[in-house]
Amino acid sequence: MARLESQVKMGFYPTPVEVAEHIGKMLKIPDDARLLDTCCGEGEALSILVGQSAAETYGVELNRPRMTLAKTRLNHVLWADALYDCICSKEAFSLLWLNPPYDTGGFDADQNKERLEAVFLKRHWQYLQEGGVMVYIIPWSSLEYAASMLTKNCRNLTILKFPDDLFWDFNQIVLICVKGRPNKAEIERNQAILNSAMDAFIDGDLDQVPSTNMDTEIVYDVPASGDLEGFTFRSVRLDPEQALEKLKTSPVWEKANIQMFPSTLAKSIRPLTSLREGHLAMLLASGMMNGEVMGPDGRRLVVKGSVTKGVINSTEETDTATRYIRTDCYEITVRALCFAPVEIITIR
Ligand SMILES: C[S@@+](CC[C@H](N)C(=O)[O-])C[C@H]1O[C@@H](n2cnc3c(N)ncnc32)[C@H](O)[C@@H]1O
Repeated sequence: MARLESQVKMGFYPTPVEVAEHIGKMLKIPDDARLLDTCCGEGEALSILVGQSAAETYGVELNRPRMTLAKTRLNHVLWADALYDCICSKEAFSLLWLNPPYDTGGFDADQNKERLEAVFLKRHWQYLQEGGVMVYIIPWSSLEYAASMLTKNCRNLTILKFPDDLFWDFNQIVLICVKGRPNKAEIERNQAILNSAMDAFIDGDLDQVPSTNMDTEIVYDVPASGDLEGFTFRSVRLDPEQALEKLKTSPVWEKANIQMFPSTLAKSIRPLTSLREGHLAMLLASGMMNGEVMGPDGRRLVVKGSVTKGVINSTEETDTATRYIRTDCYEITVRALCFAPVEIITIR
C-alpha cells in the first residue's frame, strides 16, 4: 500500500475480526474493568474483545465518521486527536488496546523522524494501570522502535503474527504484555523474545513466530479497574454538534439568539399601541422584520431592510476661508420581493 494512500485512509487498518476474536479468547476480562482503545476506528475490535463481559469500553478516534460508528459499539467515545486533545486519568484502565496509525510523525530530540507507533506507545502507556494488560498491534518492521521501552517496562510478553492471509502489506504482529517493572530474569526474557522476533523479520524467517490463529494455552487475567475518584475521560476538541445541543439548553443561548437572529425575536413583539409609520420604517430598516410577510390583499412579499453609512461632503464660504464639511449620513433601504407579479420594489 503506497504511503500516500495510507495517509488518505488516515491509518485505518482495522484489526481483522478473526484476529480480534482470537485475542479475545486469550483474555479473561472481569465485569468491573475499563478497556481503552485510543485509536478505536469504528470500535469493532474492542466490542469483539469485551464479548459477554460487562466491562466499560472507552474509545478515541480522530476521523469523525468512524467515531460516529464507534459510538454505536462502545460505551464512551471521544472525537479527538489522541496525542493532543485527551484529558484522561492516568493508570485508570485495565486494558489498553493500541493499534495506532502506521507512519512517521514529528521529530524527536535528535531530529530523527519518530515512528508514530512508538509515539503512541510512549504517550498512552500512562493510561494503563499497574498490572493492566496491553495489546499492541504494529507492523513487524516497527518493532525495533518499541523494543527498548517494552524490555524495561513490561512482564509476561507474548508476540504473535497475523495469519499469512491477513498480513496485507504490513506484516502486522500482536504484542501482549502486562504493565509492571520486570526483574532481571524478566528483562532478559523480554530481550530474547524481542530480539528473536526482530531477527526473524530481518532473515525473512517469519515462521519462527507463532500466528494468532494457532491454538494456545496462554491466558491473560485482565485486572479490575476499581473506583477512581475524579476519573476523567474527555476531549478538549470542540464537537460542533454536541456544542449546539448544549448551547440550546443554556441561558446564554437566548441572548445570543437575539443578537444573531433579530428577526426571530420580531415574531413575539406585541407593542401596546399600534406602530407609527416612522417606527415601522425603522424596524424594517434594522432588519427586525426581514423575512416573508403577507399583505392585507393576500400578496406575499419577502422583505429585507438595511442601513448603510455614507458621507455627504459640502463647503461653506466665509469672508476669509472656505470650510469643507463632511457629514455622516445613514441611508435606509427596504427591498421587497413580490411574487405575483414578480418584481423587486426598492424604497430608499
Ligand atoms: C490501525 S486503525 C485501528 C482501528 C481499531 N483500533 C482496530 O484495531 O481495529 C488506527 C485508527 O487510528 C485513527 N487515528 C489516527 N491518528 C489518530 C489520532 N491522532 N488520534 C486518534 N485516532 C487516530 C485512524 O483514523 C484509524 O481509525
